[in-house]
Amino acid sequence: MRGHDRHLAGRDMAAGQGILLQAAAGKEEFMKTLVIKESDPDFAQEMEQAAQVIKDGGLVAFPTETVYGLGGNALDAEASAKIYAAKGRPSDNPLIVHICDPEDLDKVAVADDPRVRKLADAFWPGPLTMILNKKEIVPKETTGGLDTVAVRCPNHPLALELIRRSTGFIAAPSANTSGRPSPTKAEHVEEDLSGKIDCIIDGGEVGIGLESTILDMSEEIPTILRPGYITPQMLEKVIGKVRMDPALMTAGKGQRPKAPGMKYRHYAPKAQMYLVKGDKDAVVRKIQALCQKEKEAGRKVGILCSDETKGCYPYGTVVALGSRDHEEEIARNLFDALRSFDHMDTDVIYSEWFEAPGIGIAVMNRMMKAAGHQVIAAE
Ligand code: TXA
Ligand code: MG
Repeated sequence: MRGHDRHLAGRDMAAGQGILLQAAAGKEEFMKTLVIKESDPDFAQEMEQAAQVIKDGGLVAFPTETVYGLGGNALDAEASAKIYAAKGRPSDNPLIVHICDPEDLDKVAVADDPRVRKLADAFWPGPLTMILNKKEIVPKETTGGLDTVAVRCPNHPLALELIRRSTGFIAAPSANTSGRPSPTKAEHVEEDLSGKIDCIIDGGEVGIGLESTILDMSEEIPTILRPGYITPQMLEKVIGKVRMDPALMTAGKGQRPKAPGMKYRHYAPKAQMYLVKGDKDAVVRKIQALCQKEKEAGRKVGILCSDETKGCYPYGTVVALGSRDHEEEIARNLFDALRSFDHMDTDVIYSEWFEAPGIGIAVMNRMMKAAGHQVIAAE
């Protein structure tokens, strides 16, 4: 069943107010979350209403090409405060400002560095976020108190339409409860945020499935703070040398990641998760042995693997992410797979190792965080 608050066309959306209901059991207050989709007969009118919600200071979740975002007016400090509250997100963790026209970048950020224009020309609209010094117009509530701002022009028609029809600048983190895997379907957003936001635009499953690459352009050498679909090689072709934030693939000990959001536990399923590292056959043997022990202990096991190895595990719930020959498929399915284990009540999850060049770096970054950096070596 879809979300309990799903409604169809023509309902009123009173931004930021919704319809307040007293939950029967507790004293928590809920609002009705309107879910709209392109197949609704009056979708054009519903999009207009959704844009009005943003203009009035309310919250609308919308699809992008990477993951679903939870949007509010980026220039309104109160709207940003509502975003933090709905997600349960620490307020020192800044939001990305989404624009619908690369020309609007200058309005919110200092973009004098010619490399910034080159990157925008090469990758926007698309899954690249740039960190730049912010302009006065952007409230500190949106940037988590920082003097820099993250900006991105997403490549999704519904996102671009919502931004264009509303205030032109939409602050949007991923539309999940803080700490949970990012949403790649409208159903994931409903799971986490139904009753807490005004509206969800259901645009079906996203294309990429991992969040944008974040590139810090406020540093002398542009620095990748979060790996994504746009790889270091792709960036270097356009602007020359870039580097990775050294804190990225470590257990977070000693070095502090520069993107505040990268220091928090994230993407984590409820069960303990372990990554099993080694060559393919050794990994399969190790996971088989681990599963046998879990079986004897009467524990429920989940296994994350590839299409090539899914037939190798006789005990446990097997979730295949896709073929190792198609790393983009693995990226797209990862967050949905992590969420699926929560519905199965698994006690422990063992995952194969998915290191690969290109987007595989981003996949491993998310997996390491989901597993709390717990790695088992397969001999
Ligand atoms: O693909 C995406 O980027 C998605 C879609 C919705 O656009 N958005 C997204 O936002 O992933 P969020 O809030 O979940 O992640 C943004 C990351 C956080 O780790 C945050 O700390 C970092 O960007 N960030 C934002 N502004 C920053 C700044 N000024 N300096 C350093 N890091 C920043
Ligand atoms: Mg996020």
